[in-house]
Amino acid sequence: MKHLLALKDLTSNEILFLIDKAIEIKKNPEKYSTAMKDKTLLMIFEKPSLRTRLSFETGMTQMGGHAIFYSIKDSPLGKKESIHDTAKTASRYVDIIMARLNKFTDLKELADNSSVPVIDALSDMNHPCQIICDLQTIKEKKGKLKGLTLTYMGDSENNVTYSLMHGCALVGMNIKIGCPNDKRFMPKESVIQEAEEIAKKTGSTVKIIHDPIEAVKNADIVYTDSWMSYHIPESEQEERIKVLKPFQVNSELMKHAKKDALFMNCLPAMRGFEQTADVIDGPQSIVFDQAENRLHAQKAIILWLLGKI
Ligand code: CP
Ligand code: NVA
Repeated sequence: MKHLLALKDLTSNEILFLIDKAIEIKKNPEKYSTAMKDKTLLMIFEKPSLRTRLSFETGMTQMGGHAIFYSIKDSPLGKKESIHDTAKTASRYVDIIMARLNKFTDLKELADNSSVPVIDALSDMNHPCQIICDLQTIKEKKGKLKGLTLTYMGDSENNVTYSLMHGCALVGMNIKIGCPNDKRFMPKESVIQEAEEIAKKTGSTVKIIHDPIEAVKNADIVYTDSWMSYHIPESEQEERIKVLKPFQVNSELMKHAKKDALFMNCLPAMRGFEQTADVIDGPQSIVFDQAENRLHAQKAIILWLLGKI
């Protein structure tokens, strides 16, 4: 049984295959228009979503299948019944499950007890679907992945950062993390080690840098994510802005990256927080091409997990 949980579980060949498939499916969507006939995807959400929900649901529809949106509010998951029982029951009805849960440990339990593939659609530790689509977008724009340098700026104790670290290392891209010298905003040591181990094999590098200018220097891609991830309480906003402000991606900072550097954000984004409006709405920004690719990449992921490609 194949699942998509952490990107570090994939081989370099597997992630490169998914990226190339996503590019191919985008060019020839009609080739897959019945690939999911009579198939059902269950989508369990414990946190909000726009892109993930819409792209998975639309992807299933475009491939002739069906998706069920299931809010955790309507579910006994983990409260009235165990995750084990939910997984066993749901597997009897549906062909594939994606879940956006607060805790990766809950996702793991869901996957361990499911007889159909399970996808981590954002947990505290991972956002693998996002990063497959991000790498697809970079490959489309730059024509290659290996040897490029991506700088991630801002809150780095973060699911997107972790999957970017795994994903970049797997495809041979160098990753620089620009973040405050403060444990609350730095990647966990365990993830740094995992990424470094993968990077050693692909000949790439993983660097944690606390000087914002040094971090973006010579970057091909500058990437940022929300300073206020879904699980962060509003009461922390003021303090977070204070600490993270030096790592805001603004046009002054972008000047230190390569001339042809691209700007990415997985979205949702707040102008004036993790980036300024002139950057996200400016000519270097590719955030909506990136968002569109969620659709094509989800299709590749679903087809791969179900053994259709
Ligand atoms: N990037 C992303 O996962 O967006 P949503 O939270 O809107 O799904
Ligand atoms: N880090 C963000 C990603 C949203 C897609 C969050 O967890 O909310």
